[in-house]
Amino acid sequence: MAGFEPRRLLVTGAAGFIGSSVVRHVLERAEASSTVERLVVLDALTYAGHRVNLSGVDRDARLSFIEGDICDRRLVETIIADHEVDAVLHLAAESHVDRSIESADAFVRTNVNGTFTLLDVVRRAWEGRAASTRFVHVSTDEVYGALGPTGAFTETTPYAPSSPYAASKASSDLLALAYFKTYGLSAIVTNSCNNYGPRQLPEKLLPLMITNAAEGKRLPVYGEGKQVREWLHVDDHAAGLWLALTRGAPGHSYNFGSGEEMANLALVELVADLVDDELKRERGTSRRLLEFVPDRKGHDFRYAIDASKARAALGWEPERKLALALADTVRWYLANAEWRKTVASDEHRRFQAVHYGARPARSEEQTP
Ligand code: NAD
Ligand code: DAU
Repeated sequence: MAGFEPRRLLVTGAAGFIGSSVVRHVLERAEASSTVERLVVLDALTYAGHRVNLSGVDRDARLSFIEGDICDRRLVETIIADHEVDAVLHLAAESHVDRSIESADAFVRTNVNGTFTLLDVVRRAWEGRAASTRFVHVSTDEVYGALGPTGAFTETTPYAPSSPYAASKASSDLLALAYFKTYGLSAIVTNSCNNYGPRQLPEKLLPLMITNAAEGKRLPVYGEGKQVREWLHVDDHAAGLWLALTRGAPGHSYNFGSGEEMANLALVELVADLVDDELKRERGTSRRLLEFVPDRKGHDFRYAIDASKARAALGWEPERKLALALADTVRWYLANAEWRKTVASDEHRRFQAVHYGARPARSEEQTP
């Protein structure tokens, strides 16, 4: 399938969970690797971004790492001009819903103002070059709000974000699409369901549960654990983003999902059993750590994705199944204790203490 061939690519947020998978995909997968001459990474290295996430792939001579903020207009202008960037995969964001409920300032700043800055710089730099440039804005299914027990989000589902995080992502999606309509900027928006896989900060559900179970800490399930999420492997998402960049039509949105839905409680129980098996513990040891805690404010009941447009228009198909890839994911976190220490910044620890309360691990409790 003939398509767009990026040569000088900027990836924002590349030291984070999905961005680092995207960088690996671009530099290591043959189809992608053949066209990109230079890959510039821009990341502010917040509590969520860590250089270690790019270890190995950062030795590639095509990669330039720039520590900086997407809200810094001068810096963004310099990067686009000096590196002659012709394509952007924009992943930099504040991404944690619970943090947005604690305080939304950074979400509005980075997700709305930062995305605006990038869009505005490239639309000026790329004026008259729509055919030879692309801007892919990476977003979330949370912009569509919550579903009941049936149905799935399509690209035409009206936006109805619930959390400050989702509202900030919805705003940035609309800005990207408005820049297409108003200025002819070759912008594409993608909306994915929940990702899982290596290198996700242990503040999000799966890595938190895996590491807590391994360390004998409580497994905090919000409410009754009945909320349903759809789970896509991060490397399948990265492959989809590459296809959106190279085969997507400007002005379009593409939903990415696996069709693999699970209620939170069932998923946590599955993870608990996988950790026990991997650590050769008696089954049930980790399930005893499970604890129901007060529900998230405004907690969306269910997300589900209709990915038929991405399948038909981009030729995208997820390769991994949750049943196998979740066990691999558990093994990755257990085998990478050093990585876990490296990413546990003071800010990460602060959030854990404030959000869950500084209670002792079950293993540290005094028995009467
Ligand atoms: P993440 O929190 O792991 O990584 C975000 C990265 O952005 C970090 O490296 C951080 O340092 C960087 N960053 C934050 N603010 C910045 C700023 N002002 N300037 C430059 N860099 C900054 O997030 P993720 O889970 O990898 O998500 C990446 C993107 O994908 C986000 O836009 C998110 O909304 C979207 N998304 C995530 C999921 C998911 O399940 N994780 C699903 C759908 C969409
Ligand atoms: O749907 C895509 C979104 O998925 C992305 O846009 C977000 O960036 C990403 O963080 C993720 O958002 P969620 O809120 O769905 O992910 P999180 O891992 O925070 O929570 C998943 C579910 O698990 C959710 O229903 C809340 C619940 N949960 C979460 C945590 C951290 C718990 O029950 N206990 C917890 O301790």
